[in-house]
Amino acid sequence: KVKGNPVAGTGGPGDGRMGTGEGELTLTNRQGHPIKDNQNVRTVGSRGPTTLENYHLLEKISHFDRERIPERVVHARGAGAHGYFESYGKVGDEPVSKYTRAKLFQEPGKRTPVFVRFSTVVHGGHSPETLRDPRGFAVKFYTEDGNWDLVGNNLKIFFIRDPLKFPDMVHSFRPDPVNQLQTPERMFDFLSNTPEATHMVTFLFSPWGIPANYRQMQGSGVNTYKWVNQQGEAVLVKYHWEPLKQGIKNLTQKEADAIQSTDFNHASQDLYDAIENGDYPEWELCVQILPDGPNEELDFDPLDPTKLWDHEKFPFLKVGKMVLNKNPENYFAEVEQAAFGTGVLVDGLDFSDDKLLQGRTFSYSDTQRYRVGTNYLQLPVNAPKKRVATNQRDGQMTYFVDKAPGQDPHVNYEPSTINGLKEADRSGAEHEPHYDAKMVRQKIDRTNDFAQAGETYRRFEEWEREELVSNLGGVLSVCRPAIRDKMIEYFTNADADYGRRVSDALAKALAEAGQGGHAADGKGTRTDGY
Ligand code: HEM
Repeated sequence: KVKGNPVAGTGGPGDGRMGTGEGELTLTNRQGHPIKDNQNVRTVGSRGPTTLENYHLLEKISHFDRERIPERVVHARGAGAHGYFESYGKVGDEPVSKYTRAKLFQEPGKRTPVFVRFSTVVHGGHSPETLRDPRGFAVKFYTEDGNWDLVGNNLKIFFIRDPLKFPDMVHSFRPDPVNQLQTPERMFDFLSNTPEATHMVTFLFSPWGIPANYRQMQGSGVNTYKWVNQQGEAVLVKYHWEPLKQGIKNLTQKEADAIQSTDFNHASQDLYDAIENGDYPEWELCVQILPDGPNEELDFDPLDPTKLWDHEKFPFLKVGKMVLNKNPENYFAEVEQAAFGTGVLVDGLDFSDDKLLQGRTFSYSDTQRYRVGTNYLQLPVNAPKKRVATNQRDGQMTYFVDKAPGQDPHVNYEPSTINGLKEADRSGAEHEPHYDAKMVRQKIDRTNDFAQAGETYRRFEEWEREELVSNLGGVLSVCRPAIRDKMIEYFTNADADYGRRVSDALAKALAEAGQGGHAADGKGTRTDGY
């Protein structure tokens, strides 16, 4: 039922500024002026020119002209939801304080509000959600100590380990700069020169590269982080989100094609509907822990994000669960403008020397200052849910002054003997890693690019292996021979059976393509138009 809105204005032509009567639902412009006529622009006579003083028209159209901000350079398509994280107060069976002093984990049952954004990676803002792509899984925890962002993906590893390669990698995955066409050849040209990507390619071209939706997938921080305790001692950690009641489900290429032919929003729809219907998705947060150091007994480097930490050797230790129970009220304000970054950590959580992580940490807030604006952290979805007090002032779209209640407003600098902001008085020893090395440009020592790809291939179920080899055969059939040969060499290095089966699938795809070609009978083509 529409309430109120008597619109008992005193009348007057044009843009409605003269109206005074206002009901609860009365339309206004952004200046608060009630709008009496939202259907007709003001013209000189009913067929005459439009006048330029139509404030309402100018405001409405010029705001519309600016309705879009640049989409994310990667992860443009996404869906979000609010919820909470509840700590178990333990890590596995041990007290969490042994490893980290981060406040959100300490008390059993302690709840921290969260906002989560799921996404696809390579394709644009309204691209089909059925495409083969990693899925983003970014979580913002609004903790009492400020925000913590865990910016992860569904898959537990990544294509590369050096951030210098990221822009090239993304360029090769995205459409051709000449004709905007997406071609597997450009992607595999890059991948065939990037042996460390073989493990990720093995996941991506299996059904794990098309999760059924956002609820039924895992999440992972991918990069290695540190936990720091009260004494300043650190361990290496990897974070994982395991779906609880909803389980894990992936799609075959055929299943994804069938969904895509009728619905290209299925994952956003699924998440929105589940939450609207009270069927709240839940994930358990688990960590894997390793001593802080090179861990030389391993055949890989724990700072290498192309590697899994075998969960049989390094068990998943449960630390809490997350429930998503509220849809956003406005997609743009909350989901599009949400800004997550790997630099956003709280006391007790730290970076490791994973190079990819350190490169990422520059990239996120840099892009967000451009994509959303200088003051992106003042927007409600990004602002911490605790008091913020900085000496930062001004800049485009400043919304309020980040000032402490007792702070002298004249003192926007530190140190000061007048009533300015003071540094925090914190307990807990600083974690101070020690370095004694030359500055170099070098790969890590233990690259071991293929062994885990082979293990993953052998661990797949047979239907997953079938999908993998047939998908790879298909995409490689449109690549030139040098690229195919290199990729098959990598798959063979991983596992001889893997290489052989991709080679057979490629031969089959080439034979089918040779026989193919569609009959150009002109059926359905018209020669006349309107
Ligand atoms: C988004 C850079 C690697 C997960 C982004 C964005 C950039 C970026 C610029 C857009 C952010 C925005 O506009 O708000 C990089 C760089 C990487 C890298 C330079 C490597 C050097 C990774 C890895 C993961 C990842 C390894 C997975 C763990 C994500 C996610 C988002 C994202 C989930 C979307 C966040 C959201 O929903 O707003 N990345 N990325 N990225 N990245 Fe990365």
